[in-house]
Parts: sequence; C-alpha cells; structure tokens
Amino acid sequence: MTAVEPADPRHPFPSGWYMAARSAELAPGAVAERAFLGEQVVMFRTEAGEPAVASAYCPHLGANLARGGEVVGESLRCPFHSLRWATDGRCVGSEYPGDPGYGVQLPTYPTVERFGFTFAWHASDCSEPTFDIPDLDLDGWTDMIVTTIPIAAHVETIHENGVDAVHFGIVHGFGLSGTAYEDRGTSFHSEFHFATPNFLREGPSEITTFFDTDTFGMGYARSLNTAEAVGLRYHVLLLPTPTTAGHLDFTIATTVQRPADGDRIAGVPVDEVADFMHRGAVGGVRQDVPIWEGLRYVDHPRLVKGDGPIPRFRHWASQFAPAVSAAGG
Ligand code: FES
Ligand SMILES: [Fe+2]
Repeated sequence: MTAVEPADPRHPFPSGWYMAARSAELAPGAVAERAFLGEQVVMFRTEAGEPAVASAYCPHLGANLARGGEVVGESLRCPFHSLRWATDGRCVGSEYPGDPGYGVQLPTYPTVERFGFTFAWHASDCSEPTFDIPDLDLDGWTDMIVTTIPIAAHVETIHENGVDAVHFGIVHGFGLSGTAYEDRGTSFHSEFHFATPNFLREGPSEITTFFDTDTFGMGYARSLNTAEAVGLRYHVLLLPTPTTAGHLDFTIATTVQRPADGDRIAGVPVDEVADFMHRGAVGGVRQDVPIWEGLRYVDHPRLVKGDGPIPRFRHWASQFAPAVSAAGG
C-alpha cells in the first residue's frame, strides 16, 4: 500500500479542565512536575494552602522550577537565581541585592479544586475558562479509590467510548437498554441501563444498574450508577489528562455511597463493595485499552444501524478544539 494514511485531524489538546494532581498529594509546601497537554508544568501549594499550576520553566533563564524550586510563604522560589513566583505568575521578590523589581510573568494555569482533585484549565490560546467543574457532595461516601493508567490514545477516543453503545456488549459483555443522549452545551449527558448477575450476597439473581453520565469537556466525565434492587449507588469518575501528543494518563476514581443504616450493602461490607466496584471500573477500562491504542481514527465513519450517536458526540466535542490559528495549524 503506497497511499499516505491520513493523519488524525483532531487537535491533540482540546481546551478544558484537566486533572493535574490529587489534592492530597499536593500538600502545603509540596512541589511536583508533570507533562500536561504538551507542556511541562510545575505544581505547588503555598504555605497558606493555595494550589498553583505553572510552566515548569522560569522565564528568567529557563531553570526547571520543579527541580530544586522551593515554596517560600505564598510563592515558589527558583533554584537558579532566587526569583520568587506567586500563584498568579507575578514575580514577588528575590535575593538579588536590593531585590530589584522584575516585571516578567511566569505563565500560570487557572486552577480549581473539586472532590479531592486539582484541575487546571488548558487553552492553547490562553483564553479563560468557559465552564465550571461542578463539585460533588461526598459526605457519607467511601474514600475515593484511584488508579491511573498511561494510555497511548487521543482524549476524545476515551469519551467517545461512552456513547459507543454497541461495544458495551461486544467488548464488556453487557448489552445496554434505555439509552438516551443529550447535548447540554459544554457538557454531554448520556444514560442507559444494563443487567448483570447479582455480584452481592442478597437480593435478586440479576440486577439492573442505571448509568447516568455527564461529560464536562474532555478532561472529566462522571457516572452516577444506581442498582436500586440492592441499594447500591456509586460514582465512577473518568479523568483522562493528555501528557504529550497521542498519550494520556487515565485516572479512574470510584466511591460508593454508604448505606444510611449499617455497614453492608446487600450483605457485603461496604468497603469490600467499594473495592469490587473499583476493580470492575478499572477492569472495564483495561478491556478497552488495546482497542484504543491500536485504532486509527476514522474521520467520516460509515455507521451501522444501532451504533450510538457518534456524529452528535463528535460535533459536541469539536467545540473544545482550539482555533487553527491559535494552535499554529
Ligand atoms: S532561571 Fe529562575 S531565577 Fe534565573
Ligand atoms: Fe468501553
């Protein structure tokens, strides 16, 4: 075959909120480094507790602020010449004689903390956030269990999976019923039911779970899943963070609602249930990974009757693509 394969036309780094760190791992005074949507960033938390995500590279002479940088009060001190950077990127002091002013800005990312994670806003043209990440009230829920899997895939492929109705039966072994999908502006809603054998100790032999999912941009989707017959409710949070083009860290976080009375759900200790649901969610993702990593994006698919609303989802997702001029082509 001599024809050149078409490149994936999707921009590797759509605009939006992406999970940068677990809040607990970014304690006051902590400094960390990571790849984040094609950039190397430094993350730190001030002594008063404010988180920050910024370019890792000091604008003075380019030192990596995560490698030897130290939190000093409400700023991050560069290890090379001591310029200190506030969370908004202003230079707020140094150990130069007389501490001369320095009017250069360290590029920073808007940051919010939601349900135990620190999110940073990425936009190739540096524009401000256009939507919010709604918080979750997790009072009465089990501690979040979190797993991160590095995957070679485009972030849109991860979310498109959630509206790919047929693959649930083929890849994951359970068919869907009662599917409904809705474009809600900057979020996309999908819901469906599926039946499984009862994996708990009490209740009917087969149970139906209702999956209610909202996707907020390309960095976060939340499913609230309810199996009423056994009194089970759990969240699955999907947090894919692109690192470099074609690669992402996929974080899967789960938590189960504790029963109002007692510490068992259908006869099983709630912490065991929480563990089981987490392993189930991660196991499901692992079933998808070889397909995601192997696929070549089909820009104009010829769909089969019964496929999910893939064109509608792609149209919705396209709003997060950076403008061509801002992305540099
Ligand atoms: S490189 Fe950071 S202060 Fe000089
Ligand atoms: Fe899947």
